Amino acid sequence: MSGSKLKLAVLISGRGSNLQALIDAAADPAFPAEIALVLSNVEGAYGLERARLAGIPTATIPHKGMGGGEAGRRAHEALIDARLREAGAELICLAGYMRLLTPFLVDGWHDRMINIHPALLPSYKGLHTHERALEDGVRLHGCTVHYVRTEMDAGPIIVQAAVPVLSGDTPDSLAARVLTAEHKAYPLAVRLIADGRTRVEGMVVHIEQRPGDEAGLLMSPSP
Ligand code: GAR
Repeated sequence: MSGSKLKLAVLISGRGSNLQALIDAAADPAFPAEIALVLSNVEGAYGLERARLAGIPTATIPHKGMGGGEAGRRAHEALIDARLREAGAELICLAGYMRLLTPFLVDGWHDRMINIHPALLPSYKGLHTHERALEDGVRLHGCTVHYVRTEMDAGPIIVQAAVPVLSGDTPDSLAARVLTAEHKAYPLAVRLIADGRTRVEGMVVHIEQRPGDEAGLLMSPSP
């Protein structure tokens, strides 16, 4: 591992396919970030196995048994915070970490904690995003990587990837299409941050443009 790379900690609760996308991206010597720690609040989460297979240190800090109230949450987050700092983490990536965070952790890692959400924010915050997008009949759906703020699924947007909604889609087929986009969007967001190309101002992330960055038109259905 090179000392000049940005040190990531990835927080997971489940299968960890976005973690895998980051592991795969970081396997490229040219990728400007490395994963120093994978931390789960759920024992036996499959993402922990993915980390072990890749030789990445893991930690499990269960929230169960710590109490559901404010004091319990705070105590749980204090343990997480200590572990993240011990690992030397510089950027925290929430990747399917299914637990709301309090201001203690969110403000403590202000502009150094990012999340991926399976919708084009600010539409469809919260759960069941694919079902709700289908019910609304939208023609474009997708995912968002954003800086974390105390309000859930809000915060300055770094990367969005859109996918078409196709006739006959089910929540599962749409989720699968969005997930493929997530696996591209998350490594891109990390790369932009690690390369120092992002600057947060209020709710807006300014991204240093490079030639060729201009994207084409995405239309659904395609003309
Ligand atoms: C992903 O679709 C991610 O966007 C979503 O959980 C899934 C985790 O999958 N996150 C949220 O809904 C957070 N609000 P993964 O464990 O395979 O990466």
